[in-house]
Amino acid sequence: MTRPKASALVLALLPFLTASCEEGPARPKDSRPAATKAQQRLSREPIQPLPEPPREGAVERLGRKLFHEKRLSSDGSVACSTCHDLERGGDDGRRTSVGVQGRVGGVNAPTVYNASLNFAQFWDGRAATLEEQAKGPLTNPLEMNTKLPDVVKKLAADPEYAAAFREAFPDGVTEDNVARAIAAFERTLLSTQSPFDRWLQGDAGALGTAELTGYELFKSVGCIACHQGRNVGGNMFQRFGVLSDYFKDKGKLTEADYGRFNVTKNEADRFVFRVPSLRNVEHTAPYFHDGSAETLEQAVQVMAKYQLGRELGGTEVSSIVAFLRSLSGASVARAEKG
Ligand code: HEC
Ligand code: HEC
Repeated sequence: MTRPKASALVLALLPFLTASCEEGPARPKDSRPAATKAQQRLSREPIQPLPEPPREGAVERLGRKLFHEKRLSSDGSVACSTCHDLERGGDDGRRTSVGVQGRVGGVNAPTVYNASLNFAQFWDGRAATLEEQAKGPLTNPLEMNTKLPDVVKKLAADPEYAAAFREAFPDGVTEDNVARAIAAFERTLLSTQSPFDRWLQGDAGALGTAELTGYELFKSVGCIACHQGRNVGGNMFQRFGVLSDYFKDKGKLTEADYGRFNVTKNEADRFVFRVPSLRNVEHTAPYFHDGSAETLEQAVQVMAKYQLGRELGGTEVSSIVAFLRSLSGASVARAEKG
């Protein structure tokens, strides 16, 4: 599950390579009804559209309020939304994050959009669920630097919060309910209706030539071996630097660079990370756990070199970037431009 050899990568790719061969250009014109064609496309593609988000009820409404609540931090200066700005792609646009009193963290903030679909949370996958994840930043000294009993005390003393918790949970304000409410709100943050999903669902006009060329390249060069499924990532651990040594070239390393090794202490997990989702990636620069790539073009070239051992031409890179931009959800794109 950790360190794919080149041959393993090719094997993993075979189904996709053969799948795309079946679609020869000389195929007779398809006269099946549009709905059937869309279903067939869905069953054939290695990426699936996002599901519809759950409806927002009392728990989710409370979670939304907590997500934006600066009083959750020790000095009242930082909320979850400070580093996960929902108007800016769900992250902070910084190389690494800044928490209470300007304290600088060690890794780049991932987006919270679609995080509920990732099989594990954090770059090193150390939290299994969003509930477990939510307690991390609250108590992290570099982030919100507080203690969970203090959070519960603060919220229970506020009549508005006390009432909102009673409406959402039979047992009112507790540490677990704070995490449950925030996680429930995060599960509503699904960036549906991206041009790519509309195309998957049968809207042939949703993608242009550059996007379609980029998608074919994304599959044929091998990006799809790791970035796949509903979240175009987020469903496996992989080494950063499969075919070429990223960390040797980087030089000075930090503890965060050891990735999953920090969690398992297993040597085979050194430099292994959860493959990130590429949905909304145009809105979440800079890239990688260390924020080392400033543009999407750069990130694509780094991936081609270190994960696939190849160099892509300028037009190939811009086609892949065009495809990646088509993964932005309608609401996320609106928030960014608004
Ligand atoms: C100071 C900035 C900061 C604050 C405040 C903050 N986060 Fe984060 N968040 C980060 C960083 C940085 C990471 C990545 C940490 C890592 O992987 O080790 C992260 C990771 C996450 C992830 C995992 C996403 C993924 O794809 O793995 C979620 C979900 C998340 N944060 C939600 C929250 C919630 C909920 C709060 C409030 C309780 C919060 N964050 C507060 C910076 C912040
Ligand atoms: C062997 C698995 C693998 C392959 C193949 C692969 N990636 Fe990645 N990708 C990763 C991992 C792991 C990361 C996280 C690296 C890190 O920051 O530690 C990543 C990160 C990224 C990022 C940065 C995302 C972010 O939010 O910071 C982009 C963009 C990306 N990949 C695109 C691509 C493209 C395009 C290709 C094909 C040219 C590709 N990847 C091939 C595993 C892979």
